Amino acid sequence: MCSECGYATSRWLGRCPGCDSWGSLVAEPAASAPSARPASASHPLPRLVEVTSTEAERLRTGLPELDRVLGGGVVPASLVLVSGDPGIGKSTLLLMALAAMSNEWKTVLVTGEESAAQVKLRADRLGGADGVRVFQETNLEDVCAALELERPAVCVVDSVQTLYDPQIGSPAGSVAQVREAAGRLLRIAKQSDIAMFLVGHVTKDGSVAGPRVLEHLVDCVLHFEGDRYRAHRVLRSVKNRFGSTSELGVFEMTARGLVGLSEPSELFGKSAPDQPGSVVICAVEGTRPILLEVQALVAPTDLAMPRRVGTGVDPRRLSMIVAVLSRHAGLSLGQADVYVNVAGGVRIDEPGADLGIALAIASAARHAPVRPGVACFGEVGLTGRLRPVPYADQRLAECEKLGFDTVVVADNTETRGAVHLAAASSVKHALSLAIDENPARNG
Ligand code: TYD
Ligand code: MG
Repeated sequence: MCSECGYATSRWLGRCPGCDSWGSLVAEPAASAPSARPASASHPLPRLVEVTSTEAERLRTGLPELDRVLGGGVVPASLVLVSGDPGIGKSTLLLMALAAMSNEWKTVLVTGEESAAQVKLRADRLGGADGVRVFQETNLEDVCAALELERPAVCVVDSVQTLYDPQIGSPAGSVAQVREAAGRLLRIAKQSDIAMFLVGHVTKDGSVAGPRVLEHLVDCVLHFEGDRYRAHRVLRSVKNRFGSTSELGVFEMTARGLVGLSEPSELFGKSAPDQPGSVVICAVEGTRPILLEVQALVAPTDLAMPRRVGTGVDPRRLSMIVAVLSRHAGLSLGQADVYVNVAGGVRIDEPGADLGIALAIASAARHAPVRPGVACFGEVGLTGRLRPVPYADQRLAECEKLGFDTVVVADNTETRGAVHLAAASSVKHALSLAIDENPARNG
């Protein structure tokens, strides 16, 4: 079985056909046949008009950035998987949410990873968690029994990989165990109306089943990302049955826990003034416009295949933009390595970032800074023309709020915006509008 995605096969393979990861297949005892159950289909089946739906009221977690990513709070009787590298702050985030929610609802923390005493130490530092009930246990039977008895409104299981069912022959953390645990917890969440958060570690070596094994089971998958050596963290929803995906929550790790940053543009959207290779773009993640600094470095190389390295940007889009710049903007990059980085470790997946990537590379290649006060957004087509992108008004409003007075956009962008628009028809045109070829002379 693949410990990344749960793909099952009867022979060993070096590479998983399900998710293309290498060396992730591990031997698992075959699952026992499901016990026979009397058929219980109701006849005739109801039509949709006869189905009653109740729009369940969401529970606010007390952390506005977490609420935003969940789509406005956590839905009762749902299962949310929070995944991330060890040490990124999953336990801290969820303990803080439990602490805030314990003022209003019954909350339980099942801890298999840390002892109750360790949790207490952390809780004392964070404050406000006195009402949270803790259960230090890894036996799945006992955890399920306790939850059925307590029936909390909210429960955190930290982590799902520590739970084990003695009836299953494989060790805790294996695909079979993790799946069984999530399946059982899902049933309890639905039956007892518990909003349940599962913590899942991302592992590189495959010795412990990764969160991908569970992605299809749960209602919502949140990734907690960031650089462990820097203070800010990004919470991203990658699956959400009750809200939009690719929504971002931004936090800063401080001595007193995680602090939500409601204005991430102020953190990420500052360009280095007069530095060639830096430009501010306005991207839209989920429903929120966010200003980000894109940086590029263009350095001469002797390599036959020059490097194109992107951090936080799609490598295929980066190659495409380099090709468009060479062909349609007269920039020769054939003998240069190109590095592009989105500052702050944020990842952008939307075409609205294209123009910013192009401007950053051109600015670096020409040793000429982008004019002060200029931001941009727009999609770059293969012909070198610019295309408008959605949410233009929200993006412009965000640029204006952060003090940018000129925004370079595609010339057919539809907007009622108040900021000065520098409308460009092509990448080449945009470069001439945005890049200051002669900064010294202009003062
Ligand atoms: P943790 O939540 O335990 O990470 P995870 O559960 O994802 O493995 O904490 C991550 C790090 O955060 C830990 O190294 C210590 C640090 N930290 C703070 O900086 N401030 C705090 O208030 C807390 C509780 C932790
Ligand atoms: Mg932890």
